[in-house]
Amino acid sequence: MDWGLSNRIARIIKPDTGRTVMLAVDHGYFLGPTSGLEHPKTTIAPLIEFADSLMLTRGILRTSVDPKANIPIILRVSGGNSIVGKELSHEGIITSIEEAIRLNVAAMALSIYVGSEYEHQTLINLAKLIDEGMKYGIPVLAVTAVGRDMERDVKYLSLCCRIAAELGVSIVKTYYCEGFEKIVESCPVPIVIAGGKKLPEYDALQLAYNAIQKGATGVDMGRNIFQSEHPVAMIQAVRKIVHQNISPDEAFKLYNNLSNKLSDH
Ligand code: R5P
Repeated sequence: MDWGLSNRIARIIKPDTGRTVMLAVDHGYFLGPTSGLEHPKTTIAPLIEFADSLMLTRGILRTSVDPKANIPIILRVSGGNSIVGKELSHEGIITSIEEAIRLNVAAMALSIYVGSEYEHQTLINLAKLIDEGMKYGIPVLAVTAVGRDMERDVKYLSLCCRIAAELGVSIVKTYYCEGFEKIVESCPVPIVIAGGKKLPEYDALQLAYNAIQKGATGVDMGRNIFQSEHPVAMIQAVRKIVHQNISPDEAFKLYNNLSNKLSDH
């Protein structure tokens, strides 16, 4: 057993429930000032206490998160592309392992684009990052990013998750889809789901619930939390689904109660 690696993973995936709520606020690395994240410091501060970890770039970590905050960091280290660029999959490693160590991260995250023009490059990036991380006991999370025209179905996402696991990641992040349990069954490492585009709150809670019931270890959710009308209420409702298995109906009730209370202040 690699003590450092296991310890870092245990900071992210809570040992008492075996689950995790990651708050994803890394969108700006290729999307710029995403709606809800225009002022990352203001968005992140009230949510930190309800997240098990924060996923973000070094720029937002350094400028927008208090170093005294007791929150494990999942550092996005792939990028070099943009939403208006020619090819989304054209990513490289943008942060060194020394920087990750200096920032005291719990894990590093990198996107892979299976089936896209730069598939090979992103998979080699992943393999190299895992080798670097293993030297220092830093786990790697692979983000199964989807090219502009790609289907998010069970066949494609199982392929991406399994390839990431074969290359040696500690956690995979993917999307929820019909037949999600098959992705979980064929992937030997924990899977967390992205929330994707903003949905009505009830639907986002249902999505989180379905994923957890079908074997996800947790969520790595961004827009469905920080673009919600009540982000602080939303993250608490998601948290209860992940760690306490409450139903979408109960979670939505909680969301509404908390929203009303928070609006009173
Ligand atoms: C891509 O921008 C990032 O990896 C996001 O962290 C990821 O898509 C999760 O965020 P969301 O729940 O908004 O999809």
